[in-house]
This record gives sequence, structure tokens and C-alpha cells, in this order.
Amino acid sequence: MKKQLIAGNWKMNGSSVANETLLKALVAGMASATCQVAVCVPAPYLAQVQGLVAGTGIELGAQDVSQHEAGAFTGEVSAAMLRDFATRYCLVGHSERRQYHGETDVVVAVKALRALAAGITPIVCVGETLEEREAGRTEEVVKRQLAAVIHANGHCISEIVVAYEPVWAIGTGKTASPEEAQQVHAVLRAQLRAATAQAERVLILYGGSMNAANAAQLLSQQDIDGGLVGGASLKPTDFLTIIAAAN
Ligand code: PGA
Repeated sequence: MKKQLIAGNWKMNGSSVANETLLKALVAGMASATCQVAVCVPAPYLAQVQGLVAGTGIELGAQDVSQHEAGAFTGEVSAAMLRDFATRYCLVGHSERRQYHGETDVVVAVKALRALAAGITPIVCVGETLEEREAGRTEEVVKRQLAAVIHANGHCISEIVVAYEPVWAIGTGKTASPEEAQQVHAVLRAQLRAATAQAERVLILYGGSMNAANAAQLLSQQDIDGGLVGGASLKPTDFLTIIAAAN
């Protein structure tokens, strides 16, 4: 059976001191973890966290990558640079990037391509807004977002991780019910099946107010292969409870 993946998304939080405290608590508490664990950290802390997680079983992740390979793109961080710090995962197309930084489906697809070319697994985020859900457009939106990535990445699509994150559930305390989430995950799985014979090995994570209380139920759904955890990943006890709920 494939191992589930619990990935923390620290967003724009942390400091050298706080990162060390958090990771030490995680390492001390996750000795018996059976799932895969990753933390997606702000770029300036990649080197620090690379050192702190070495040999612990926690994988290093980034939160974004440039769509460009190299050159005159002030402020951008390339996939090769992430790779320099042994980054294993990189979020692409998080809804906060789509919403606040105008990232389109095509840009997100190119970012996934850049990550894969550098040997980094992109965690491709898809999800509908509240308005789209209420208009009955959830399926159409997530399929459109994933289709762009499938189109650009061809047979490599089996190498990505997908994260379904309903925008209305992110940081709001409102979670999709396990059944609501499973329904969308099944749609995404079917779309992957149509694109690759390896669809069963693609991990599809759920994200959006996953916490210590709701993780076990969400993670027991057939097509939910892990979690992308924001707020709760900054609280060691909560994050460890989520890790313990995964397998
Ligand atoms: P949340 O964030 O768990 O705080 O809702 C999830 C995410 O944005 O990845």
C-alpha cells in the first residue's frame, strides 16, 4: 500500500529560533510515524531546515518556484536553487499564489514542469472558491486546473502530487466533509486515470483546515492519500496527531 504524505505548509511564518523549536519537537514526537512527512518552508530557511531535518525522515519542501529557468527575474527562486538545498517537494499553484499573485493555470503548469525537470516533486494545488462551489462549478474548476498541468507535463504526470484545497476551507476553520472531499478526489483520480496508467500511485492530498480533530476521518477516505496542513502544522502537538492518524 502506498504511504500517505502529510505535508506542512508554514506559509509566511517562522524564524530561525521558532523553526528549530518546532522541528525538534516534531523529530522527538514522530519516532513511530508510518507515513511520509514533509515541511514546506519559506525560501530563506531552506538551508537551516535542510540541516535540521537531515537524517530525521522529514522531507524538505518549498512553497513556490519560478516559472523561469534562470536570469533577470529579481526576487525569484529557481528550481535548480531549490534543488541545491536537497528540496524534495515544492508547492505550486497554491490558491494564495493564484489569488494574490495572479498565477494562471498555464503558469502553474510551467512551474510544475520546472520542478520535475530539477528532480523536485511538485505538489500541485487545485481548488474552487466558495462562489464557484455555490454555483455548482467545483468539478469544472478543479478539472480545468489539473488539465493544464496534465497537458504541459505529459507522461510525467504520474510523478506529481496533487493537493485538493477548497479555497473556502483554507485558514477558515471550515473543512470540507470527508464525503465532500472524497467526491472531488474521485473526480481528480478519474482524470489522472485518463492521462496515465500510473494514476493509482499519484498521491492526492486534502488541504483546508485539516486539524487534529478531523484528520483521521478525512484520511480514511479511499482517494485521500494525505494532507496539506497550514495552521495546524505550526503546532507540534496538532501536527503530530495528524501524522499519527495517517498511514
Ligand atoms: P490551513 O491551510 O490548514 O491553515 O487551512 C492549508 C493550506 O493553505 O495549505
